[in-house]
Amino acid sequence: MILINTIKQAKKVLDSFRINNKTIGFVPTMGALHQGHIALIKTCKKTTDICICSIFINPTQFNNKTDFEKYPVTIEQDIDLLEAAGCDILFLPTVKEMYPANSPKWHYQLGYVEKILEGKYRPGHFQGVCQIVDKLLSIVMPHILFIGQKDYQQCMVIKKLVQIKQYDVHIEIVPTIRQKNGLALSSRNMRLTLAEKKNATNIHKTLLYVKQHLKPGNIKELKKSATLLLNTKGFKTDYVEIADAATLKPINKWDGKKPLVALIAAYLHEVRLIDNMLLTPGA
Ligand code: PAF
Repeated sequence: MILINTIKQAKKVLDSFRINNKTIGFVPTMGALHQGHIALIKTCKKTTDICICSIFINPTQFNNKTDFEKYPVTIEQDIDLLEAAGCDILFLPTVKEMYPANSPKWHYQLGYVEKILEGKYRPGHFQGVCQIVDKLLSIVMPHILFIGQKDYQQCMVIKKLVQIKQYDVHIEIVPTIRQKNGLALSSRNMRLTLAEKKNATNIHKTLLYVKQHLKPGNIKELKKSATLLLNTKGFKTDYVEIADAATLKPINKWDGKKPLVALIAAYLHEVRLIDNMLLTPGA
């Protein structure tokens, strides 16, 4: 695996592959890698000639100082995992490299998708995500970008960014990887105790509860009972939402046909966890 720290070197190396007609697949991450990230790398390896992964804990997307300071850093282990998975290039820039002094501030017109759910509870978060993904895409210029369904709303935001900036890139969304007990893999799980990890499986259980109890008609009560279920298990729930899977508009009355997605964000002590489940009729 080639390790690259500078933008200049990244462009040079990637250009040499492009000149030789190699397809480039890109997996952006913030490190603290787990099997969810490795699934992205493996899908990338199957689909493109060259797989490049970036590790960069992007300060501009954290709206909470503690969350940023406590974000797990496991770089040596990350490198081992990437090498074992067959990743070709690791781009590991510094904050100074990505955000030089006096670098211009961007604002993206993301519209509705950044005002709801994560956007509402984490103001500015998606502007920060777009800022870094925009920079990374302009450096890597991949043919295919691989992102995880675990961050459902982020996937929609990145699609919107690609549309606004007219990047010529295909976006591949890879399904969430779960432990056997249903817990979605997440770097933030590293901050949970063993008992909390066990309790955290209630997020997936609540998504299953929503899926099992979903019926056409008024679904407001279902959201309420799902929220109650989580709160009684000791969570501080930001939201349990059932939304149109294509637009993320909340649905309160369901026609029984529209594909939906159930989304949850909840705290276990100071660790905020998110998860989602597609609720496609007939599936
Ligand atoms: O999902 C993440 O890990 C981050 O939000 C991303 C896409 C790497 C941007 O920093």
